[in-house]
Amino acid sequence: MKSILITGAAGFLGSHLCDKFIKEGYRVIGMDNLITGDLKNIEHLFKLEQFEFYNHDVSKFVHVAGKLDYILHFASPASPIDYLKIPIQTLKVGSLGTHNLLGLAKEKNARILIASTSEVYGDPLVHPQTEDYYGNVNTIGPRGVYDEAKRFQESITMAYHRFHGVETRIVRIFNTYGPRMRLNDGRVIPAFIGQALRGEDLTVFGDGSQTRSFCYVDDQVDGIYKLLLSDYAEPVNIGNPHEISILDFAEEIIKLTGTKQKIVFKPLPKDDPMQRQPNIERAKSVLGWEPKVNREEGMRTTYNYFKSLTPEELQRSEHKDFSAHNKK
Ligand SMILES: NC(=O)c1ccc[n+]([C@@H]2O[C@H](COP(=O)([O-])OP(=O)(O)OC[C@H]3O[C@@H](n4cnc5c(N)ncnc54)[C@H](O)[C@@H]3O)[C@@H](O)[C@H]2O)c1
Repeated sequence: MKSILITGAAGFLGSHLCDKFIKEGYRVIGMDNLITGDLKNIEHLFKLEQFEFYNHDVSKFVHVAGKLDYILHFASPASPIDYLKIPIQTLKVGSLGTHNLLGLAKEKNARILIASTSEVYGDPLVHPQTEDYYGNVNTIGPRGVYDEAKRFQESITMAYHRFHGVETRIVRIFNTYGPRMRLNDGRVIPAFIGQALRGEDLTVFGDGSQTRSFCYVDDQVDGIYKLLLSDYAEPVNIGNPHEISILDFAEEIIKLTGTKQKIVFKPLPKDDPMQRQPNIERAKSVLGWEPKVNREEGMRTTYNYFKSLTPEELQRSEHKDFSAHNKK
């Protein structure tokens, strides 16, 4: 049985990846310090013999006993509200955490895939973004803590690949959504769904002409799985290129939820990218991957998931208290 360590296992993407690798017959070791994640996302796995969980901060030294074939490094705050509240933790997990996991990969002779992001392109001057675009990032802006941590993460990963011969993979993830996202985390889909569930008007920042493209989680997990098992070490964009303006998307949500809300406009936050769309030609040619789930189907499943949560679960999904972590 192949063994895989998944960091960020209790988070949105990490928990779906745990499900995927369990289904594919792997022994899965989940690791998470629960700073933004929730054990509820993986509690269904605790009864399985082939699943183990460690509550550990990967910015500290990481030890795992026994053989390890693969590592997926997904631990990191991922949403604007989170990383603006825990900037130092975000920088540490992208830098120190990645260093620790690359060290572990080297020691165990394991292949490691790290979760990078479309944010490495910053507010892009090239559209859609191909992997050879270097990006347009404000190092000292509020979002710099995330963007630069991820850019450093890519650099140190390539250095371990070139200098130590570690087998590395880099996925540049574009906006992904689905069940187990947290509500009210600053990202547009949970923000709109949260507002729809609470019967509030939908907030659009700026005039809503900025675009996003949203990838359903099952497609994202499939792309990551294929990349891990490929022999390709350069970064690969995984996302859905189908682009929509935020204003049109808000109107789609109103139609989907059948609510009577209006759309209200607020000023655009600093460094909010105007356009975001992956070029996925590399994923198509190297991995034979492209997204399959359309937005209507993906959004319906996601909305139904949030509707099925109890009021306590919804409350937990909306409010995270970072005070204890920020003292560390
Ligand atoms: N969801 C997206 O659309 C998206 C887009 C681009 C990149 N990503 C990347 O994918 C990864 C997962 O994102 P997500 O959306 O699932 O976020 P998430 O917040 O749901 O999950 C991240 C998980 O990492 C854990 N974590 C954070 N710091 C840690 C630390 N120091 N030690 C151990 N665990 C720690 C959190 O508790 C959480 O469970 C992140 O690296 C993120 O940058 C996600």
